[in-house]
Amino acid sequence: MSRTPIVTVSTGKGGAGKTTTTIVLADCWALSGLTVGLLNTDPNKSLRRWYEKGAKKGYFENIIFREELQERNIISVARRLCDQVDVLLIDVAGVASVSLLKSAGIADLVIIPAQPNEDDFIEAINTKEIVKEAEELTGRAIPCKTVITRAKSGTTVLEHTAKQLEKINFPLFSTIFYDRTIFAKARFMGATPISYGANTGAISEIEAFSNEVRQMIFVKEKGAVKKTKAA
Ligand SMILES: Nc1ncnc2c1ncn2[C@@H]1O[C@H](COP(=O)(O)OP(=O)(O)O)[C@@H](O)[C@H]1O
Ligand SMILES: [Mg+2]
Repeated sequence: MSRTPIVTVSTGKGGAGKTTTTIVLADCWALSGLTVGLLNTDPNKSLRRWYEKGAKKGYFENIIFREELQERNIISVARRLCDQVDVLLIDVAGVASVSLLKSAGIADLVIIPAQPNEDDFIEAINTKEIVKEAEELTGRAIPCKTVITRAKSGTTVLEHTAKQLEKINFPLFSTIFYDRTIFAKARFMGATPISYGANTGAISEIEAFSNEVRQMIFVKEKGAVKKTKAA
């Protein structure tokens, strides 16, 4: 396994929040002093558009972006990028694909974003099955967790779906991303809520989530944690 932790963000459901999850983590970690690699493997190229728009405005410093749409090259491109960064995030096309199998196979953690609805959760379960296949192939455990995105406050569907997932031992991050206009607005600006600097609720969610993820991936990489400027 590479010394640089690799986090793969994936689900079979389009619009679940993969690209948003990827870029908010990248922005948060980069602002804390880590050099972050971003690898887009999704042909819709939305991560590229977001990154390029933001980079032109001076956001996303400390982030190195690469795109690799050929599944045969994903592992070599990821490994090369790992040599330049403290942590690598991979945004993977939302289908059961060789790209996902490979990106999961080299990952230290797979994050599956899902909105609180049945379709997203079925796709989350399908994605977790592919991660299990990657575990079979590599012979190692690949932690895999779901983050709930675009939750609407004051509805019971969130509680219901969380309970259903608990019943089948489906691990969930404690942080929930609520549906907040700032996420979409910041994206139009080529920013994230942090670089855009507006809504404290969104920023708290991003920080709490990035800490949760960080604790999972840097647990054996104390050197990388020390590189951060944050206390
Ligand atoms: N927490 C949120 N609140 C409001 N809008 C969100 C949130 N998360 C994502 N979005 C919006 O939902 C849409 C789909 O998100 P995206 O991250 O592009 O999904 P995916 O990459 O899985 O297709 C985008 O327009 C994005 O701005
Ligand atoms: Mg996307």
